[in-house]
Amino acid sequence: MIIAIDGPAGSGKSTIAKQVASMLGFHYLDTGAMYRCIANYALENGIAFDDAAALEAVARDIPVVFSHEPGSPVATGVSFGGVDVTDAIRTPAVDKAVSPVSAVPEVRAALVEQQRRIAAHDDIVMEGRDIGTVVFPHADLKIFLTASPEERARRRALQNAERGFGDTDPAVILEGLIARDKADSTRTTSPLKPAADAHELDTTHMSIDEVCDAIVKMAREARP
Ligand code: DC
Repeated sequence: MIIAIDGPAGSGKSTIAKQVASMLGFHYLDTGAMYRCIANYALENGIAFDDAAALEAVARDIPVVFSHEPGSPVATGVSFGGVDVTDAIRTPAVDKAVSPVSAVPEVRAALVEQQRRIAAHDDIVMEGRDIGTVVFPHADLKIFLTASPEERARRRALQNAERGFGDTDPAVILEGLIARDKADSTRTTSPLKPAADAHELDTTHMSIDEVCDAIVKMAREARP
């Protein structure tokens, strides 16, 4: 069974997708981390964000490898080219670089291929921007999460404070979120938008448990 969870930055996708995967005993894939790996590599190796050929080569030649705690199907670490980049891909510099890099169609095509391969044999919760529209248009369940921009900025500030890096000023984060939402939803290839058959959930006033319970209930009803 494939559950697609899409939505803008800070809508709660990661927290909710991981918890839903744990509740159902499914695998979990964070596709944003894959785009972040390419953006981080481009930054570190001086590759221009519009150099489609070079970025495509990186996305095709270097696999993104997720690591798991023993016994858990939910990945917690990510490495790229043999280097652990779990923290490196969450810096403000990568936050900025990832929108232009993820808008390159050749990068998307290479990563979508990997995403389809990863999901081939397992029950999985996959989170991103285009999972229900492009990667798995026939997903068994599609969720589109939203929340007000202010609430999303507040959540991201808290998350960064807990992690100990990244911006912690909600006003600064809000500015970045709005810019990223605009770039992600107006790009030509696979823009961020709900699939016609997605269930839209506004999580502004919902707790994490309420959202997860609602999705798990829908998953049990939709199970093929
Ligand atoms: O979910 P995130 O904030 O880690 O995603 C990082 C960026 O990657 C985001 O700006 C949009 C892009 N992205 C995408 O274009 N398609 C996906 N399936 C996942 C993320």
